[in-house]
Amino acid sequence: MPTEPGQTLTVRDNRTGQTYELEIQEGTIRATDLRQIKAGARDPGLMTYDPGLFNTAITRSKVTYLDGEAGILQYRGYPIEQLAEKCTYLEVAYLLIYGHLPSRDELAGWVADITMHTFVHENVKDFMQGFRYDAQPMAMLLASVGGLSTFYPDAGNRQDPDVVNLHIRRMIAKVPTLAAFAYRHNAGQPYTNPDNELNYAGNFLSMLFKMSELRYQPDPRIERALETLFILHADHEQNCSTTALRVVASSHADPYAAVAAGIAALYGPLHGGANEAVLRMLMRIGSTGNVPAFSESVKAGHERLMGFGHRVYKNYDPRARLIKKAADEVIAARGPHPLLNVATELEKRALEDDYFVSRRLYPNVDFYSGLIYQALGLPLVMFPVLFAIPRTSGWLAQWYEMLSDPEQKIVRPLQIYEGDRDLTYP
Ligand code: CMC
Repeated sequence: MPTEPGQTLTVRDNRTGQTYELEIQEGTIRATDLRQIKAGARDPGLMTYDPGLFNTAITRSKVTYLDGEAGILQYRGYPIEQLAEKCTYLEVAYLLIYGHLPSRDELAGWVADITMHTFVHENVKDFMQGFRYDAQPMAMLLASVGGLSTFYPDAGNRQDPDVVNLHIRRMIAKVPTLAAFAYRHNAGQPYTNPDNELNYAGNFLSMLFKMSELRYQPDPRIERALETLFILHADHEQNCSTTALRVVASSHADPYAAVAAGIAALYGPLHGGANEAVLRMLMRIGSTGNVPAFSESVKAGHERLMGFGHRVYKNYDPRARLIKKAADEVIAARGPHPLLNVATELEKRALEDDYFVSRRLYPNVDFYSGLIYQALGLPLVMFPVLFAIPRTSGWLAQWYEMLSDPEQKIVRPLQIYEGDRDLTYP
């Protein structure tokens, strides 16, 4: 691509007095262009130091568009608000992975394929039985998704589109089954097989909660609320877990290993655990009468208002608005939640308070999601698992995109070495 006039950056290296002209494309300079800037013959060239990759684009992507300043989130160009209102989660998963909304026939085929793959090999149950009785569900999910690659020797085949598409379908179908098994294991209950007469969300609810009844009948309001949550969590461009997936997939590891890496990254409290922290905060506050004192304590810098603020959204997180609606649906189905009033009062106060307004702190996706999960009767340990299920489609969309990206290389960053050298063994 020829450089457009004026689209360059002039860099003067004051160590040598030399001047360099670097191309600017799409608002970026190529990091490797800096390598020509050398202080001497033995200098390998200038590198960038960016722990946390705060200012480094690691890929081109067409999957998700995010504008944090304006509070915009779009999957493949469609605003999240429209998708949350009009689509099912599986329709959104198809959109994310294949780049267009499915036609009626494509959707029917996609749903049928995924429904057909919801069961797991009986051996999976055997190895899950091997976990400690109270094992963390997220850790079980991480291990069992990684373990799936042992069942599919062709999982590493990236060349054959049929094989690739089969594994995409398998993974989206089986993750809820593994997640539900992990929950039941942790709860000391027998695993429930999928019910393929139910839809994606309804089947997941059945695998979680079915006891001795012949058929579990999910409440349609709860089913829809869960679909909404799944849609809102399906992708969020190059975050920590997606980057973990991309790093692992860059070595051509199979998609089960790559998604397991995504789950491992999501497991951390700085990423998938904020909704749990919100719920613990609400439980600690306890009642609306305690909200003013809590708010003052936050403003005095003693603690943070969890579920508020975001690294990229400096406006209302668009997902938070939609989640509030889903929370209302669940509460309508399940009856009042004792902490909803506390959350609403906290939000109202914060949105009127100069401390939060001036710092552009608004509710994020986690402010209400924990309340919904709890209203569904799910324990805190399941919260990150409920995030991982829908994010699987986002991870697979990013993985699928990598397969045809000629610019992708094995990830191999550099370091600034600060240790000893040339020691002699005593
Ligand atoms: N409560 C009170 N004050 C806050 C909060 C908060 N939740 N968040 C930021 N601030 C203040 C902070 O003290 C600082 O004030 P000052 O300028 O006086 O020092 C100012 O706002 C800027 O904060 P920051 O830490 O520089 O902002 P950041 O962009 O680095 O942090 C954040 C973003 C999400 C880590 C932070 O807002 C936070 O800790 N929020 C609570 C935790 C939370 O809800 N996390 C979930 C994020 S959404 C997850 C997802 O999208 O996957």
